[in-house]
Formats: sequence, structure tokens, C-alpha cells
Amino acid sequence: MNTDRHSMTTVDDCRLINLATFPHEIGSLTVAQNSNEIPFAIQRIYYIYDIPSTAERGGHSHHREQRLLLAVSGCFDVRVSDGRQWRTFTLRRPNEALYIPPGLWRTLDNFSSGSVVLALSSTKFDENDYVRDFDDFLKLKNALR
Ligand code: TYD
Repeated sequence: MNTDRHSMTTVDDCRLINLATFPHEIGSLTVAQNSNEIPFAIQRIYYIYDIPSTAERGGHSHHREQRLLLAVSGCFDVRVSDGRQWRTFTLRRPNEALYIPPGLWRTLDNFSSGSVVLALSSTKFDENDYVRDFDDFLKLKNALR
């Protein structure tokens, strides 16, 4: 395990960021761009759709990746853990992004029909950056305390 790269973040380091939005009668437009409001340079985006309402996604933490999650359509819950506490965020507005720093476990569930998850990432995809076992995650966090 890469204890050196796993930070000592807590669930209090997650926060909701309101993205710049231009509402109009012909449709609303929301912008996410590298700027002061987003605390990292965006390297990758991906989106998840066709999600069954019973699905649970996520179930991992990252050594160094920072991420923003948005509900561009519908709504869902994001549960984050630092190994001591859990916090739940319900994402339901396309202009509200949840910032998740490295070193936090996250799961996504309670998906409404037609929900679409948009993820903005600080890194390119790297499977070695994932911690996919919760016990490994707990060991990593405790090792750093
Ligand atoms: P995963 O990150 O486990 O999805 P989630 O956390 O949303 O449940 O990724 C699911 C699969 O997709 C896994 O096999 C890895 C692959 N994947 C990529 O190849 N590139 C990517 O950028 C992402 C996010 C996933």
C-alpha cells in the first residue's frame, strides 16, 4: 500500500461548490472550468448513466486523485467516510458540485430514474491510485493517525 501518498483528509474537507450558471428561458447553462472555484486542474471527465435505482457505485478511495461529482440530471446520494465518520450529500442540482479530496472512501446510491453522474477528475485514469478494499482503506487511514 502507498501510505505515503494517502493524505490525512477528513469528511470535513468535502464541500459543495456552486458553479457559475446562466439561467435563461431557452435553457440554463452551467460552466466548470479551471479557476479558483475548482481546486485542481481538470484532467479527465466521465459520466455514468443508465443507472438502476438499486445500484451502488463507487466503493473506493484514491491515493491522490481529487474529484468533483455532479448530478447533471436526477439526483443521488454520495456517502463519504474518513474511517471515523460518514457524511452524506444529496446531489440534485446540475450547478452544485461535490468536491472530494484524496483519501476518502465514497459510495453513490439512491439514484433517481434517469440520473446522470458527471465526474471531473484531477488525474488521468490509474487503477493503482484506487483503494478498493474497505479494510485496506481503514488500515491506511489508521496508519497515518
Ligand atoms: P469505477 O471507478 O470502479 O466506477 P465507480 O466508482 O463509478 O463505480 O470504474 C468502473 C470501471 O470502469 C472499472 O473497470 C475501471 C473503468 N474505468 C476506466 O477504465 N477509466 C476511467 O476513467 C474510469 C472512471 C473507470
